[in-house]
Amino acid sequence: MQSTSYNTAAVIYIFGGTGDLSRRKLIPALYNLYLGGWLHENFSIICIGSSIGNRETLIKELKSGVDEFSRSGKTKKAQWDDFEKKIELLKGDFTQKKLYSNLKKIKCSFEKKQAPANRIFYLAVPPKFIGIIAENLGEAGFAADRLHNRIVVEKPFGTDLKSARELNKQLQCIFKENQIYRIDHYLGKETVQNILAFRFANALFEPIWNRNFIDSVQITVAEKIGVEQRGGYYETSGALRDMIQNHVMQLLCLIAMEPPVSFDADEVRNKKADVLRAILPLRKDDIHNVAVRGQYGSGWIEGEKVKGYRQEKNVAPDSVTETFAAIKFEIENWRWNGVPFYVRSGKRMNQSISCITIEFKPVPHQSFPSEANENWRSNLLVINIQPDMGIKLRMQAKRPGPQMLLTPVDMIFSYKESYEGSTPEAYETLLQDVIEGDATLFMRADQVEAAWQLVQPVLENWKANPSVNFPNYASGTFGPEAAETLIAKDGNQWITMSINSKSQNDD
Ligand code: BG6
Repeated sequence: MQSTSYNTAAVIYIFGGTGDLSRRKLIPALYNLYLGGWLHENFSIICIGSSIGNRETLIKELKSGVDEFSRSGKTKKAQWDDFEKKIELLKGDFTQKKLYSNLKKIKCSFEKKQAPANRIFYLAVPPKFIGIIAENLGEAGFAADRLHNRIVVEKPFGTDLKSARELNKQLQCIFKENQIYRIDHYLGKETVQNILAFRFANALFEPIWNRNFIDSVQITVAEKIGVEQRGGYYETSGALRDMIQNHVMQLLCLIAMEPPVSFDADEVRNKKADVLRAILPLRKDDIHNVAVRGQYGSGWIEGEKVKGYRQEKNVAPDSVTETFAAIKFEIENWRWNGVPFYVRSGKRMNQSISCITIEFKPVPHQSFPSEANENWRSNLLVINIQPDMGIKLRMQAKRPGPQMLLTPVDMIFSYKESYEGSTPEAYETLLQDVIEGDATLFMRADQVEAAWQLVQPVLENWKANPSVNFPNYASGTFGPEAAETLIAKDGNQWITMSINSKSQNDD
């Protein structure tokens, strides 16, 4: 969340730098930061791993990743040639001490000449390596420089409350909390950051941002894709762990938090943690009323027949892992008491869309005759996170003509139309923030644990009572019927709108 360009020399050690995340996300992000002039001339990337034989092959792999995934398109020779000079390969086994003594021997040429650079240890590795890498880094003395050295941990951060607490404890024995950057890539998305700007840089919305005016809040993170090649991981995760506990809860916090006094990292994170603490804990005996799970069966996506979850690679044929989850939360504080927060996320849905819908209360008195009001709908504020990025405000207007007929119309703010050029990827923002030492968009230990605490009763209930009706939604639909009932019980319905769709097209 930097507002100015900084000049910080940095060395980024990517554990798992020869792997998929590095190729698809991290190196393209660093390349774009480099192209944009956001990286100091003295920066270096050390890719650590064992799956690639030599530097030449690594560079080839990384270049093909940038060509395929970078928002700036294919690399240009001169720029890439300059950038790739910054990349080194360090081969080794994360569990062996030798790797860390080799790591100590690497001194970038610029480090010899000047003050120490910031050192970022980025763990793009499966969770089982996090503890062991952190311990070895600590033993090798890499945690000692509290000011310059940082560790970045990817999700999943634990698999439940207990394991997240243990991991926090383990990391905090080695690094100080201010050196630990827990990534939730949703927080780096432009539209997600814009929620803060929208709420706290405009005087207009704050007075109505509460239980007196808002009827309900919905958060939908829907994906058309299935589990793709990640069946093995997903079997141990499911939608609740994969999406709700982290990305979705973070969105909820941004919508519900109190105005921060400043944009100091801890001030913002305190306010978000307050939201999690104010959420009414779900009662074990009430889970069936407030939480719904689903698993996709076969179906049709964009005219193509796709297989069901149980037929995916590395998935058990009788798997009870959920690929869809919906939960109703209530926040017990002055601002939100009585306003339901409905959240849902699923794979193989009928569209890929992430959006937050704020539904406002009806007018206190309908002055217009009922004929005028036939198309009346409540005011809605829709924040589209992706794929279209923007904000839409739905209100009522008079339809042109001799009669007084009301009809919903939209006011739209579209990123694409308002700003030129492509939008930075989440990883660009997050990597730059780590380099500069700004932790605002990263999860603090207490936030992670509070989010696990909230979903823990659901995890336990679902584990104790495996679903007997999976698969319960066809690919290409909007999840199981029960998710509609969850919200319909309160007289509401899911509203998923893109800024580019007409108001009448509520799903
Ligand atoms: C990841 C999940 O954290 O987020 C994936 O593990 C999911 O299952 C992905 O597909 C969604 O991210 P995005 O940025 O594509 O919305």
